[in-house]
Amino acid sequence: MDNVAFSTKMDGVVIIDQTLLPNEERTITLTTIEEMYDAIYKLRVRGAPAIGIFASFCLYVLANKIEADNIDTFISILKKDADYLNSSRPTAVNLSWALSRMLKVAESNKNCNIAEIKQMLYKESVDIKTEDIAMCKAISEHGLSLIKDGDGILTHCNAGPLATSKYGTALGPILLGVERGINFKVFADETRPLLQGARLTSYELYKAGVDVTLICDNMAAMVMKDGKINACFVGCDRVAANGDTANKIGTLGVAILAKHYNIPFYVFGPTSTIDLECKTGNDIKIELRDQQEIKNNLFEKPTAPEGVKCYNPSFDVTDHSLITAIITQKGICRPPYTSSIAALFE
Ligand code: MRU
Repeated sequence: MDNVAFSTKMDGVVIIDQTLLPNEERTITLTTIEEMYDAIYKLRVRGAPAIGIFASFCLYVLANKIEADNIDTFISILKKDADYLNSSRPTAVNLSWALSRMLKVAESNKNCNIAEIKQMLYKESVDIKTEDIAMCKAISEHGLSLIKDGDGILTHCNAGPLATSKYGTALGPILLGVERGINFKVFADETRPLLQGARLTSYELYKAGVDVTLICDNMAAMVMKDGKINACFVGCDRVAANGDTANKIGTLGVAILAKHYNIPFYVFGPTSTIDLECKTGNDIKIELRDQQEIKNNLFEKPTAPEGVKCYNPSFDVTDHSLITAIITQKGICRPPYTSSIAALFE
């Protein structure tokens, strides 16, 4: 099942509602901008590359609904729509990256008529998705060169096909390996508070026939100490120019543990997740989410006193010194990251 697609009438975007997984595989169609914003905010569609692809599809659908009699009005409404979608989540740079790409198409073709620009926007959104499939495949190939048959791999959150287009980033080498008869023993952190590891990673890997074992986040140290882990594979939401990397909350802890146990810690992501505007991780804005996600969501009854304070940052930043390598579609970056990352864009 495709996790981001156009509806048959091209008046909406169809996604797998990830909040219902693993219990129900249901697609939903979003036709209004409010529904689209809500789908990103509520994590019905999630994962850095997937929200970029989704946002570009949404902007095309919204562009089609604009009734303007001149290009300037058309572009100013399109820009307002893009800004609104972009405000749904702040950390994953792929969201603003994809929307900027779409806007650029409109702004640099002002000499064309509105119908032509709409066609170009369609093409751009499809290109963004097609390129992501190719990037994930290339990332997976590079990643596969880092591990061998039978290795134990620990992963955090979900960086699989659901979070991208196909294959995924951090899960890509594992899924590609399975296609080629190479097998790994994967330990998936459940990933509190929204359980992307339990609900999505273990679901995707189990379905693909991977030997996957789900663990609670606080068991990672023990499986590392017991010698069960040869490498840690995680995705990313924004990588700064010096290699500092924002990813799902809890990733930093995994990286610190990996350093302690001398286990390589690999970050996987397309170059669209690298933000050279952020010099270091201190420049990355971290999304703070509703306290109820810790106290109430996913449980039948509240798990803490109603009035108790909760702190719910959705991401943390792993210092580049803890990262063994950053794997992109263009190749594997090793320290010093300031130069190896810069070389990707030369
Ligand atoms: O809050 P989420 O579920 O969108 O967080 C997602 C992650 O942190 C992923 O690891 C990251 O986006 C990489 S997806 C290929």
